[in-house]
Amino acid sequence: MQKTYAEIYRAWKDDHTRHWAEAARAIDWFTPPDAIFDERQGVYGRWFPDATGNTCHNCVDRHIAAGRGDQVALIYDSPVTGRKAIYSYDDLLSNVSAMAAVLLDHGVEKGDRVILYMPMIPEAVFAMLACARIGAIHSVVFGGFAASELATRIDDSSAKLVVSASCGVEPNRVVAYKPLLDAAIALARHKPARCLVLQRPELTAELDPARDVDLGPALAAARGRTVPCADLAATDPLYILYTSGTTGQPKGVIRDNGGHMVALAWTMRALYGVEPGEVYWAASDIGWVVGHSYIVYAPLLNGSTTVLYEGKPVGTPDAGAFWRVVEEYRVSVLFTAPTAFRAIRKEDPEGVLVKRYDLSSLRALFLAGERADPDTVRWAEAVLGVPVIDHWWQTETGWAIVGNPLGLDRLPVKHGSPTVPMPGYELHVLDDAGHAVAPGTLGNIAIKLPLPPGCLPTFWNADARFREACLSEFPGYYKTADAGYVDEDGYVFIMSRTDDIINVAGHRLSTGAMEEICASHRDVAECAVIGVTDALKGQIPVGFLVLKSGVSRESSEVEQEVVAMVRERIGPVAAFKTAICVKRLPKTRSGKILRGTMQKIADGQDWTMPATIDDPVILDEIAEALSERRIC
Ligand code: COA
Ligand code: AMP
Repeated sequence: MQKTYAEIYRAWKDDHTRHWAEAARAIDWFTPPDAIFDERQGVYGRWFPDATGNTCHNCVDRHIAAGRGDQVALIYDSPVTGRKAIYSYDDLLSNVSAMAAVLLDHGVEKGDRVILYMPMIPEAVFAMLACARIGAIHSVVFGGFAASELATRIDDSSAKLVVSASCGVEPNRVVAYKPLLDAAIALARHKPARCLVLQRPELTAELDPARDVDLGPALAAARGRTVPCADLAATDPLYILYTSGTTGQPKGVIRDNGGHMVALAWTMRALYGVEPGEVYWAASDIGWVVGHSYIVYAPLLNGSTTVLYEGKPVGTPDAGAFWRVVEEYRVSVLFTAPTAFRAIRKEDPEGVLVKRYDLSSLRALFLAGERADPDTVRWAEAVLGVPVIDHWWQTETGWAIVGNPLGLDRLPVKHGSPTVPMPGYELHVLDDAGHAVAPGTLGNIAIKLPLPPGCLPTFWNADARFREACLSEFPGYYKTADAGYVDEDGYVFIMSRTDDIINVAGHRLSTGAMEEICASHRDVAECAVIGVTDALKGQIPVGFLVLKSGVSRESSEVEQEVVAMVRERIGPVAAFKTAICVKRLPKTRSGKILRGTMQKIADGQDWTMPATIDDPVILDEIAEALSERRIC
C-alpha cells in the first residue's frame, strides 16, 4: 500500500539518509552513490559525494534507451509569433547533441560557464541540456532584465560564451536582444570569447564577425553529430541562477547535478502526482527557478511531456489562452504564479472563457512564486473544479519547501497556507533572538541544516557571503528571510519577507537595488523604495525621493528621470513606474528610515506612530503625497 505523507515525513525525520538513498534509486547513475551525505564537505555538507552521472542523460538518453524515443518530450507553443512545434525524445536528443557539438566547437569545456540570454524558444531548452551534457555550467538570464544586470552576471560567472537570440517577442513589442547583449559586454570587465546568436524571423541582429556566430547555420551543420554525456560528479555544478539579494549585486545560486536530479524526480511523483508520458505545464519563464525546475528538468527527468509557452495569460490573444493550451495538449497539471490568475480573473471574472474549452485532462493547478491570496485561490477552485495547490519555495531551494503532496495523500486545503513541510525540510519559527515561538506566533522561518538534496550548496564563488546571508543569523539553520507561522495542525503560513525583497508579478526584486539607482541620480539626496500592494501584480515598487537642497528643477522631471534610470539599469521587469519627491523621509531618532510604516500607510492598513519617530509630521506628508497619486 502506498505510504501517506505523515508516514513518509516521519520516516524521513527518523533517517534522513535512508529517505534520500531510496529516492536516489530513481536516477540512472554512472556510479551509484555509496555515501549519501557527507557533513564534512562543502559549507554545510554535500549530498551523494561519491556518485557520478549526467543530468542530460537522465532527461533524454535514458528514456530513449527505455524505448520511448517516439514519445513527445517538448511542446513549443508561441501565440506571440504564431509558431508551434513538437519534439519527441529522439528529436530532443538530436537537437541537444547538435547544440552540444556547437558549444564544443567553440571551445566550451567541462566547468566553463555559459550565459544563456534567451527568450522562451526551444533552442533555450536545447542549450540548457547541451551544457548539462558536456558538463558546462549554464546561467540563464531573464529577458526582461537590462544590459547592466546581464553585465553583472557575465562578470560574476566569468562566462566563456553567451548563447542568445536576435530578439524576444512581447505582446506590445519586439525586444531586440543583441543591442542589450552588446551593451552588457561593453559594460562587463570580463569579455566572453564568443556569442552564438540565433536569428529569429521577427528581427535580424547585426553580428560582429570577430566575436559573434550565427547559431542557426552552425546548428544545421552540426546535425547528426553525436556527443557523449560527460561523466560528472554529483556535486559538480549544473547551473548558476542569479537572484536578487539585498544589494545591487545578485546572488549566484548554485545547483548541483546529483542532489537536483534526486529531489526533482521525487517531486514529480510525490508532490505533483505526474506520471511519465503525461503532459505537465509550468507557465513560467526559463529565466526563473520555476522554469529551470519545472519547465525543463523535472518533467524531463520524469519522462513526462513539458510545454514551453511563449505567451502571456492574457492578451495573447485573450484570457482563455491557458485553457486553449490545456485543451490542445491535454495538460494534466498546470503550475503558474497567482498573478497570472489575477490577470485572467480581471478580464474574465465569470470564467466564461473557461467553459469554452475541454479541461477534462486537468487534475490540479499548482501556484507558487508569491503569496496565493485566498480570494484568487477560491476563484480558481470555483472555475476549474480541480484542487488548487499553493506551495512555497525559493530560488535557493529549487523545489518546494512546503506543499500539499498530490501524489501521496492530498491533505485538506486551508486557504492562505501552502500546507505542510516536504520531507527534507524541518522548519522552525524563531524569534529574532533565535528562540522557537509558540504555534500561531509570527516569526522568522528557518530550516534546520542540512538542507535537502536539490537546495543550493553555496553561492557561486562566494561561500562567505552564503554563510553571512543565510546561515549566520540563526546558527544551525538556513534563514529563509520569509516570516510566517505554523498553526496547531502544523500548517505553515507565509506572510512576508524579513528583508527588502518584494514580489512583483511573481518576480523577485530587491528594493535595495532600486534605492541604489535612485540615490545615484545627481539631484537626489536620499530615497526609499517600498513595495505597495497591487491588485494585479501582488506588489509594485514606489520610490520616495528627497532632492538635494538648491535643486531648482521641477520635481516631476527628476521623478521621470529616476523611473527611466531604474528601467534602464534593472529592466522593464522591475515595473518601477512611480517615484514621488517628498520634503523629508520619516526616520527614527537614530536615523533609520521607517519603510514599514510607509508601506502600511500606502496599503491603507492600520498603523501606529512609532515611539522612536523623529518628526511625526513627516508621515502625514507621506500620506498626503500617496493620496495625491491615488496610491493609498
Ligand atoms: N523580455 C522582455 N521584457 C519582458 C519580459 C521578457 N521576457 N517579460 C516581461 N517583460 C516586460 C513587459 O513587457 C513589461 O514591459 P512594459 O513596462 O514595457 O509594459 C514589463 O517587463 C513588466 O512585465 P510584467 O511584470 O510581466 O507585466 P505585464 O503587464 O507585461 O504582464 C502578467 C502582467 C500578470 C500577465 C505577467 O506578469 C505574468 O504573466 N505573470 C506571471 C509571472 C510568472 O510567470 N512568474 C514566474 C514565477 S512562477
Ligand atoms: P523566488 O526566489 O523568485 O522563487 O522567490 C522566492 C520568494 O517568493 C519566497 O522567499 C517568498 O517570499 C515568495 N514566495 C514564493 N512562493 C510563495 C508562496 N507559495 N507563498 C508565499 N510566498 C511565496
